[in-house]
Amino acid sequence: MALDPVDLAGSKILITGPSGQVAAPVVAELARVAAVTGLARFSKQEDRDRIEGLGASCVSVDLADPGGLRDVPNDFDYILNFAVVKTDSFDYDLAANGEGVGRLMLHCKNLKAFLHFSSTAVYEYAGHEPRREDSPLGDNHRVMFPTYSISKIAAETVCRFVARQYGVPTTIARLSVPYGDNGGWPYFHLMMMQQGVPIELHPEGPNYYNLLHVEDYLEKIPRLLAAATTDVTTVNFGGSDRTSIEEWCGYLQELTGIEPVFTENPQAFGSLCIDTTRMHELIGETAIDWTTGVRRLVESLAPELLKPETSNA
Ligand SMILES: NC(=O)c1ccc[n+]([C@@H]2O[C@H](COP(=O)([O-])OP(=O)(O)OC[C@H]3O[C@@H](n4cnc5c(N)ncnc54)[C@H](OP(=O)(O)O)[C@@H]3O)[C@@H](O)[C@H]2O)c1
Repeated sequence: MALDPVDLAGSKILITGPSGQVAAPVVAELARVAAVTGLARFSKQEDRDRIEGLGASCVSVDLADPGGLRDVPNDFDYILNFAVVKTDSFDYDLAANGEGVGRLMLHCKNLKAFLHFSSTAVYEYAGHEPRREDSPLGDNHRVMFPTYSISKIAAETVCRFVARQYGVPTTIARLSVPYGDNGGWPYFHLMMMQQGVPIELHPEGPNYYNLLHVEDYLEKIPRLLAAATTDVTTVNFGGSDRTSIEEWCGYLQELTGIEPVFTENPQAFGSLCIDTTRMHELIGETAIDWTTGVRRLVESLAPELLKPETSNA
């Protein structure tokens, strides 16, 4: 039986990376019921304005800075760590993504739970085999994001070390492909299709992933917090059903009439679907069917591209 969600109403929550694609809807949802603080560098004033507009307060911190948390309160009940940086600098990205997790946890050791968002990009490529939490790790995303997989693996390691050493209840959730009415990978593909830009596919198709709709991750986050233990719960986090780039681009074509152009590239990210066994045991199945989610994404972000017969307008 899946775990009951923790009740976040009235709690104090620190959300790092609040202006990002994945976290922004979480801030919007939680700031309605809890005292939410968003932490990022906020180099763009409009990001800070947007997050404050959602009802959260903001603190400007660079997680790569060893003294960056000096003036940040330390009495949070929960931390949701979404912050991530992807530059070409290993030094900077390991400091922000890896050491930054340790700094956050050490700053707030009395948390009820720490939820670290990792990525299935930590797994070694293994064709169509669904990746389990104990599958081999590897430098999966090197081609496009040189530091990403390595710094996400490093971040997990720092996170486990601090959790076990200092007794901080922690969950590490390895995200597959989050998407929703605010965007995500299928939206990038739609934009590429519209502009006639070829979409690169690994030759070992179909290229399977587990799209995770924003409504599902909003519903699951309080359950992931309930799953936190001081020995650290590590769990895949994606939609219950796998689908593929080929299938969702085909469905985008059905909705819009725009044909995707595919090119094969052995260097492209390959299949990265997940074994959902542990996820289902801990937090249950997801609810949003991927065709429903992809259709809603187009209706929200590019309604003008819908064919008249597929549009509800
Ligand atoms: N998007 C996906 O498809 C996907 C897939 C799998 C896993 N994930 C994971 O989900 C999480 C969120 O990803 P995302 O795509 O939403 O990220 P994103 O859009 O790139 O946003 C990153 C956030 O982190 C903040 N940030 C970056 N560098 C920072 C630093 N040095 N110190 C403090 N804050 C910093 C950014 O704000 P500032 O620039 O203002 O600092 C921004 O709010 C990440 O952990 C990522 O690994 C995402």
